[in-house]
Amino acid sequence: MRLLVTGGAGFIGSNFVRLVLEERPDWTVTNLDKLTYAGNLKNLRDVENNPGYSFVRGDICDPTVVSEAMADADAVVNFAAETHVDRSIHDPTGFIETDVTGVYVLCEEARRQGLTTFVHVSTDEVYGSIEDGAFSETDPLSPSNPYSASKAGGEMLAMSYFKTFELPVVVSRGSNTFGPFQYPEKFMPLFITNAIDDEPLPLYGDGLNVRDWLFVEDHCRALLFLVENGVPGELYNVGGGNERTNIDVARAIVDRLGKSNDLIKPVKDRPGHDRRYALDCAKLEQAGCQPLVSFDDGFARTVDWYLANEWWWRELKTGEYLEYYKRNYENR
Ligand code: NAD
Ligand code: DAU
Repeated sequence: MRLLVTGGAGFIGSNFVRLVLEERPDWTVTNLDKLTYAGNLKNLRDVENNPGYSFVRGDICDPTVVSEAMADADAVVNFAAETHVDRSIHDPTGFIETDVTGVYVLCEEARRQGLTTFVHVSTDEVYGSIEDGAFSETDPLSPSNPYSASKAGGEMLAMSYFKTFELPVVVSRGSNTFGPFQYPEKFMPLFITNAIDDEPLPLYGDGLNVRDWLFVEDHCRALLFLVENGVPGELYNVGGGNERTNIDVARAIVDRLGKSNDLIKPVKDRPGHDRRYALDCAKLEQAGCQPLVSFDDGFARTVDWYLANEWWWRELKTGEYLEYYKRNYENR
C-alpha cells in the first residue's frame, strides 16, 4: 500500500503516520503538508529517517502539487484542514479554502488517477449540538460555526464524488480528540500548559458544555481500520464514549498537576457554542472497531506527556500564538 497522508504534520495526522509506519511496515507513507502554524515537523522527528516515509511541503488547494504527490499513491487519507473553531470565528477565509476547495482539488485528482481508497477525515461537529441521545450517521447536518460548516461542505463534496464519479470515498466523523502533539490552542493542551505555568484557565460560559473525548491513538486506529475495511460511500461516527463537561475536565487537569481550582477563570462564552456532542458508534463497532484506551488512562498519559515535553510546546507559545491569544482572550 502506498499511502498519501495530507496534513500529516498536525496533531492527529502525525500520530497516524507514526501508527501506520509501526503497524504496517511494508507500506509507504507520503506526507503532504503546507506547514501552517499548526503543522510541525518536530511531531515526526522520530520517523523522519524511516525509509518508508517521505515529506512534501505543499498546499492541497494547489492542483499541480496534489497531482505530483498523488502520482505514486494507491490511497489517500485527508487530514489537512484549518481546525480551530475560535480562529474560524475571527476569520473563516482559510477554512473555506482548505476545508472545502482543498477537498475538491484532492477529489478531482484522486478521480483522475483512479485511486482505490479515499478516506476523508471529518468531524462530529457537522451535526451541531444535541440535548439528549446521540447522533447517528443518518441524522441531518446542522453545523454552528464557520469551521464546522466548512467541514460539512468538504465531506458533502467528497461524498458527491462517490455518488457521481464512483470515487471510493469513506468519511469518518471523529469526536474531540486529545493526546500528545496537540497544538496548545485547543482546550486540553491549552489548559494543561497554562496550569503548568500557573496561568489562568479561560473556561467559556458556564463550563457545562459536553464533549465526547477520544484518545488520539484510538482515533488513528479507527482511521487505519477504515483505510482497510471502510465501505466506499459510507460515513462512520468515531467517538470515545467519554462524555465530560468542560469544568470536570478542567478540574481533573488542575488535580493531576497538583494546582488550585482558583486557576479556572470563567470568561465570556464562544459565539455559537455547541452545548453537547454525542455519537452513536454502533456502525463502526459492528464493523469490528472500537476504542481501546479508557478516558482515565489516556488523560493521565496526556497530562504527563505535556509535563515531560516542554521542549515541544514552550516554543509554540510564542510569536503568532501570543498575538492570537491576545485577540481571542483579551477583554473576554
Ligand atoms: P491540526 O490543526 O493539528 O493539523 C492540521 C494540519 O493540516 C497541519 O499540519 C497543517 O499544516 C495542515 N494543513 C492545513 N492547511 C493545509 C493545506 N491547505 N494543505 C496542506 N496541509 C494543510 O488538526 P488536527 O486536530 O490534527 O485535525 C486533523 C483532521 O481531523 C482535520 O481534518 C480535523 O477537522 C479533523 N478532526 C479533528 C478533531 C480534533 O479533535 N482535533 C476531531 C475530529 C476531526
Ligand atoms: O468535536 C470535534 C472537534 O473538536 C474537531 O472537529 C475540532 O477540530 C477540534 O478543535 C474540537 O472542537 P471544539 O471546539 O470542541 O474544541 P476546543 O478544544 O476548541 O474546545 C473544547 C471545549 O472547550 C469547547 O466546549 C469550548 C471549550 N473551551 C475551549 C477553549 C479553547 C474553553 O472553555 N476555553 C478555551 O479556551
